Amino acid sequence: MILRDVVAVGAVVAGVIASGCGHGWSGFGAAEQTPTFARDVAPILFEHCAPCHHPGGAGPFSLLSYSEARRRARQIAKVTSRRYMPPWLPEPGRGRFLGENRLSDLQIATLGEWARSGAVEGDPQRLPRAPAFTPGWQLGPPDLVIAAPEPYVLAAEGRAILVGTRSVEASETFRVGWFP
Ligand code: HEC
Repeated sequence: MILRDVVAVGAVVAGVIASGCGHGWSGFGAAEQTPTFARDVAPILFEHCAPCHHPGGAGPFSLLSYSEARRRARQIAKVTSRRYMPPWLPEPGRGRFLGENRLSDLQIATLGEWARSGAVEGDPQRLPRAPAFTPGWQLGPPDLVIAAPEPYVLAAEGRAILVGTRSVEASETFRVGWFP
């Protein structure tokens, strides 16, 4: 990874308020309904995964279409049941954070049941519109961008490094005190 010593100072965290969109499947119950991609899975993937898993995003593959998700149905069930995906570092139960991206137990169960029951597509009419993503700064342009005199190659597991007299570190911040 080439790091051009780009330091973003005081970037404003633009929160995406979770839409809380209800999806039709009401869980494992008397109805024994098989979850489908169009009705139950796509709303979860579009809201919680697609922000990284879209062409050009941070994720290594896109999860915006049925064919892309179906190919990885079992892997999706595995990484979500372990809460490896979506990546979200703060411990649960220690306050809410702006932009929190954690799946509910029901959402995880839905993805697992979808994979187990054959990753059915369902009625394409029920499919929500796929989100669109704009390239570039996702939180808006930073207040200050400082360009390094020359590119610096940072190791994948890089911690803070010293470039000249400047300490450079990749960091993710969380804004506390947000209640939906
Ligand atoms: C913040 C960005 C981000 C979000 C949100 C995110 N992913 Fe990922 N995902 C990544 C990155 C980066 C990788 C590759 C590195 C890794 O495997 O840790 C990855 C890898 C994966 C893999 C491959 C894991 C492996 O073992 O090879 C799967 C499957 C996956 N993601 C599914 C999901 C699902 C399902 C969601 C939503 C519930 C999700 N991701 C949300 C960034 C993200």
